[in-house]
Amino acid sequence: MNKILEVKNLEVGFINNNTRSEVLKKIDFDLFENESLGIVGESGSGKSTIALSILKLLAQNSYAKGRVNFENVNLLALKEKELLSYRGKKIGMIFQDPLSSLNPTMKIFYQLKEAFVKEDKINLEKARLKALSLLDLVGIKNPMVRLMQYPHELSGGMRQRILIAIAIAASPKIIIADEPTSSLDATLQIQIANLLLEVKKKTKAGIIFISHDLALVSAICDRILVMYKGKIVEQGGVKELLTAPKHPYTQMLLNTIKALEEEKPLFLELKNHLEEKNGCPYLHRCICAKDICREKSPSLKSTKNHSVACHLTEEK
Ligand SMILES: Nc1ncnc2c1ncn2[C@@H]1O[C@H](COP(=O)(O)OP(=O)(O)OP(=O)(O)O)[C@@H](O)[C@H]1O
Ligand SMILES: [Mg+2]
Repeated sequence: MNKILEVKNLEVGFINNNTRSEVLKKIDFDLFENESLGIVGESGSGKSTIALSILKLLAQNSYAKGRVNFENVNLLALKEKELLSYRGKKIGMIFQDPLSSLNPTMKIFYQLKEAFVKEDKINLEKARLKALSLLDLVGIKNPMVRLMQYPHELSGGMRQRILIAIAIAASPKIIIADEPTSSLDATLQIQIANLLLEVKKKTKAGIIFISHDLALVSAICDRILVMYKGKIVEQGGVKELLTAPKHPYTQMLLNTIKALEEEKPLFLELKNHLEEKNGCPYLHRCICAKDICREKSPSLKSTKNHSVACHLTEEK
């Protein structure tokens, strides 16, 4: 498989009132052609910050170091103007909230058209046919009617499909989907996730699928990164991660899913309230922490197809 994206030593933070807060700490990962890579982690762990860093869409008060290599170019080093040929074209992005991501005052056709027609080359009939085929691809019924409607005339599921159509309109090599299904009901979540997989199969794009939902991500991804407090604490193939999770945080996430499936009560105790300074980011929750976990942050150590940042697994 061809590597299409390489994120190396990515560090991102924000500056508020002259205070720097580090949000992503030395993030390293690759994405391959025709691969779906899941990123999971709780709220605030830095999932969206990774997505936004890739296309340099971070807020003004941010700083970013490291490399985001795509087609032999470090995207982090590009100027705004240079990024235009990547954003929405070579790299498509689907955001969380389908209503606020669409322009409420523009009919669907014009929003779709913007994604694939260059301003100087408008051929309306060709654009209409392409827009219809995109709606068809994302499973929208009555595409002729839908094309001339406004976003508020469509259901949440349809709007999410339209966002996917916009994201794939320019045949991107990478699609980044940041919580694309979190506002939808369970059946629609599965439909939309399957739709992304179909798109991947047809276009060979690499997909980065971000979600809180480890069960959903496991169902549709080839590989998973588990984030905790701005660090990747474990990454591996879905099978390895589900059958032999090594990090206590991943183990806790999987136990939570099992408990929900078995309708058992959940006890998510915070075992240790010490705030880590130099130690492991998971220290304050870990039930098996040792002295070394307070002293030193573990780095990501790899074995075949699986890596984990945990002193305890190093010991074993
Ligand atoms: N513009 C900003 N200024 C300061 N801090 C920010 C800014 N944007 C994000 N952050 C902080 O960065 C951290 C990571 O945020 P991020 O949105 O990446 O988390 P997330 O994992 O996507 O969470 P969620 O699951 O809730 O979407 C959070 O602590 C957040 O408060
Ligand atoms: Mg987010």
